[in-house]
Amino acid sequence: MAAPIQAALAYEPAEAGSSFAHDVIAGLTARPKQLPPKYFYDEIGAQLFEDITASPEYYLTRCELQILGERAPEIARFFPADSALIEFGSGSSRKVRILLAAAPTIAAYVPVDISSQMLVQEAEALRRDYPRLAVLAVEADFTQPFSLPAAAAGMAHTGFFPGSTIGNFEPHEASSFLRHAGRMLGRGAALIIGVDLVKDAGILNAAYNDAAGLTAKFNLNLLGRINRELNGDFELENFGHRAFYNRERHRIEMHLVSKKRQKVSVAGRTVEFRTGETIHTENSYKYTLEYFAALARGSGWTPAATWTDAGANFSIHALTFEDR
Ligand code: AVJ
Repeated sequence: MAAPIQAALAYEPAEAGSSFAHDVIAGLTARPKQLPPKYFYDEIGAQLFEDITASPEYYLTRCELQILGERAPEIARFFPADSALIEFGSGSSRKVRILLAAAPTIAAYVPVDISSQMLVQEAEALRRDYPRLAVLAVEADFTQPFSLPAAAAGMAHTGFFPGSTIGNFEPHEASSFLRHAGRMLGRGAALIIGVDLVKDAGILNAAYNDAAGLTAKFNLNLLGRINRELNGDFELENFGHRAFYNRERHRIEMHLVSKKRQKVSVAGRTVEFRTGETIHTENSYKYTLEYFAALARGSGWTPAATWTDAGANFSIHALTFEDR
């Protein structure tokens, strides 16, 4: 039965109460310089990400959609009747539609996203298409504490965390996220989570260096957003996109590289760059099936099922929470 959930997610204590301005100043004065990837998703960035998912090199979305299409009936068995489905980072809500179509007894869908425009737009479209479904949108940064809507409190909960967004976390943060998500969703809950798999470096490098330059634009838009929202004066042509697979750490790293020695002002501060100095903007960790299952177990979850696409590029795991 559903436990009432006021339990908040709080697995990034060092960043609690932070804001875009605070995080940008902290990241640009750190050595090496870095910025949190969650800030990619302003309205422009959210659209650029959608464009990336359609690029021929970015196999992740296509492979995950393939699995969802083939396995939706099996996945839907993890959704209790009259339950609430909570999606972390719902974006375009394209994936959840496949699950909703296979699970007509779901009572509520709770999309949680940091990008308000897309959230509101998609919620309206879902209400039109699923008139009997309560669509309870939550505009929130799910890496920070947030509460589930009161209307979903009495229901059983299932989490949906697709896209391999968990790869943005350091493994210890991923574990912390899983543990807190379990507490929030409640005992007996299931979590359906998409996880990109370790594979040939050539395929990985191509996925983050698409020929059309969409990923470069997405990366550089972070500087554009700082200019727009924090009164910055980054000249985007003075920075380059760099993404590569770090084999030792099983992760794609994305950086913005300063093409010259330069000074930039952001929110009234001056930030200096050496030629070739980088801002580390994203990690995208890749897992093996076994390593991810071990991480889940170590975080209070029990792996219940795993599916991959035909080429074993991408995985979806069903986990159940039987924590104390
Ligand atoms: C949405 C975090 C899963 O890491 O593949 C795409 C973001 N970055 N191209 C990923 C992203 C560059 C994406 N995630």
